Amino acid sequence: MGSYYSDDDGRCSSDVCKKRSFEHPLSELWDSTVSIELDENAQVINAIESFPGLEIWARNSMRKLHSLLETAFVEKLPRSVCEKLPLKSAVTLRNGDALWEHWHFHSISHSSNYFGILPDSVGVEFGKETLATEISKVSSVDVSQLVDEFTSRACSLIKANIKPPDSTLKNRYVKMILSGKTRVLSFKKYSHSIQSSHFLKLRDLFLNTGIEDEKRLNERIFTLLQRYDSLGGHGFQAAISIEAFDYLRDHFGVNFECFASPLNCRFSRFCSAFPDTDIYFGSLGSFFDFHPVSGSYEANPPFVESVTLKMMQHINNLLSKSDSNSTCMSFIVVVPSKFRDLISASKFHRGIVILEHRNHSYKAGAQHKKKLKSTVKSTCDTDIHVVQSHRGALQWPLTKEKMDEISASF
Ligand SMILES: C[S@@+](CC[C@H](N)C(=O)[O-])C[C@H]1O[C@@H](n2cnc3c(N)ncnc32)[C@H](O)[C@@H]1O
Repeated sequence: MGSYYSDDDGRCSSDVCKKRSFEHPLSELWDSTVSIELDENAQVINAIESFPGLEIWARNSMRKLHSLLETAFVEKLPRSVCEKLPLKSAVTLRNGDALWEHWHFHSISHSSNYFGILPDSVGVEFGKETLATEISKVSSVDVSQLVDEFTSRACSLIKANIKPPDSTLKNRYVKMILSGKTRVLSFKKYSHSIQSSHFLKLRDLFLNTGIEDEKRLNERIFTLLQRYDSLGGHGFQAAISIEAFDYLRDHFGVNFECFASPLNCRFSRFCSAFPDTDIYFGSLGSFFDFHPVSGSYEANPPFVESVTLKMMQHINNLLSKSDSNSTCMSFIVVVPSKFRDLISASKFHRGIVILEHRNHSYKAGAQHKKKLKSTVKSTCDTDIHVVQSHRGALQWPLTKEKMDEISASF
């Protein structure tokens, strides 16, 4: 992917954020006051295209994998161990199953032969370690044989199943109806509901990118909703509050999220996990493929240790380059307190604000399905770290006053 920048002559990104004076009707959902100058290359991502039929096919394959995983462990491990596992024990298909979510997340993160949310055999091999680690947290039983058996079955299932549908009109056509404050998008017998306000936010973002004609909008929104629904794990999708975003924009020049989806983004440009479904709504692809030369960013990654570690390595590299080029660069990093050392070890670390768990909230991960302002109390203490290049720290200094204000804005 090409580089992204907010400026090319050492000016800082806050100078190029243009604020409009009117209040946008969807300001609860996204911040239309910020626009970003993009390097023309930054907008071109070569992602394999997805479409409704492909998403349903991938979802069905995922369900088989999920069932395989539950059967592999629930039926073979002693009941006393199963009860402690982050499975809910019965062989059911549902979201909210932490062992599945961790395995799936690691497997797709390491997959290269890409069908969106469906891992490939390389990713499934990587997932082995996650299973062993998660199970060892609750039991000393040796599960290596069970893990090997499951991995081998999962690989066979994936190999036998690689016959995706074609992209002809019958696999793409989506109908939309308005039902009260909700829009229902239907493809064949499958449907997704979304709050009208969120539908309109996605429409704004879609028109903003200008990649496609509006007649593709319903198809793209259905595909997006199906992707994130199949992914599950709404806990990985919770966003910081509007007040926090506004504070970071006004006092640190933040105008871009390093970790987002079109459903939880606050800004019109962001990085996300799935370029194939998300670029139509403003995504620039994965944060790990993103190489800005300057600018001010907020990074609230999924709360997974390996992702946090990888994120910090990437941020440190970007800041080293920023210092070499004498540009302003700043990251506000939001992570659970248990990952504190991973961030504060950085030589670019400028300070930290610690939020106690009962005193702050996030916007719910499934916010597009719920009423406006649906928030959830944090279940863990959160750290807000400020990590900046030399010039970034001069441009957006962290003061005691700002630390108190950041804390209040969450
Ligand atoms: C905790 S939510 C962040 C919500 C909100 N954008 C914010 O900044 O508060 C983390 C988001 O990162 C996305 N994500 C996962 N892997 C990613 C990657 N490699 N690059 C960018 N985003 C990613 C997830 O899908 C999820 O939407």
